[in-house]
Amino acid sequence: MNDRIRTDIAHNARVWNYWLGGKDNYPVDRAVGDTVTGFYPSIGEVARADRAFLGRAVTHLAAEAGVRQFLDIGTGLPTADNTHEVAQRIAPDARIVYVDNDPIVLTHARALLTGAPEGVTEYVDADAHDPERIVAAAAGALDLSRPVAVMMLGILNFVLDTDEARSIVRTLMAAVPSGSHLVVTHPTLEPELGGEGNKAAMAFWNENATPPITARSRQEFASFFEGLDLLEPGIVSCSRWRPSSGEAHVVAQFGAVGRKP
Ligand SMILES: C[S@@+](CC[C@H](N)C(=O)[O-])C[C@H]1O[C@@H](n2cnc3c(N)ncnc32)[C@H](O)[C@@H]1O
Repeated sequence: MNDRIRTDIAHNARVWNYWLGGKDNYPVDRAVGDTVTGFYPSIGEVARADRAFLGRAVTHLAAEAGVRQFLDIGTGLPTADNTHEVAQRIAPDARIVYVDNDPIVLTHARALLTGAPEGVTEYVDADAHDPERIVAAAAGALDLSRPVAVMMLGILNFVLDTDEARSIVRTLMAAVPSGSHLVVTHPTLEPELGGEGNKAAMAFWNENATPPITARSRQEFASFFEGLDLLEPGIVSCSRWRPSSGEAHVVAQFGAVGRKP
């Protein structure tokens, strides 16, 4: 076993996997996951809505915006419809670089690296706090003179300082050309999304699990998209971003896609 893997403390990638119905988690992850669900019963729905948003956003980018390169930071454990599967179903030549710093995600990287032969699917073990390193590593597999979709789903919430989170986004988006996109989901306590219930859950998480997490307001979330053109419908509950059918139930997780002009 990778000696970075800690089975004595709950870890986000594994608890997220548990909430999504996956099997790549330990008793400690399930115990913390269940307690968080007790505080905040809709967390499983948030996780599923986030993944469904990922599918719709990548489908739009690959099928309609013509994006062929994806830099997916905060990959998570492999589940159904990972970014490379959605993108390469539409464009087999799509190139995907995944980035995560969780050792158990790393041990699954080989399983993730089985993309379409015409395309590229690579994995980088790196920390989101070091965007320069991510850009340098991605440049090996992606052509940074052509548009890239920078995907940060459920990860900026682990960068606790908002100025630093903004600076990370700015560094990443400065490294990619016009026509590139930024895709973000992020938890919030905003009452308009029913997020108040998240407060006790996050406090419990921060005392019992890792890495520590923070929520952000609509205004803070919007600031990640400064200088970008927000695609319709703008900043919404991720479940309401171009839902495939009807009026989707609101979840306390913002989702948005912006295009670099
Ligand atoms: C909530 S999961 C989201 C997974 C996926 N993006 C999704 O939306 O389903 C967050 C992921 O970010 C990773 N992560 C957390 N902090 C990180 C950091 N500082 N650098 C890189 N990855 C990080 C975790 O290991 C986990 O896999």
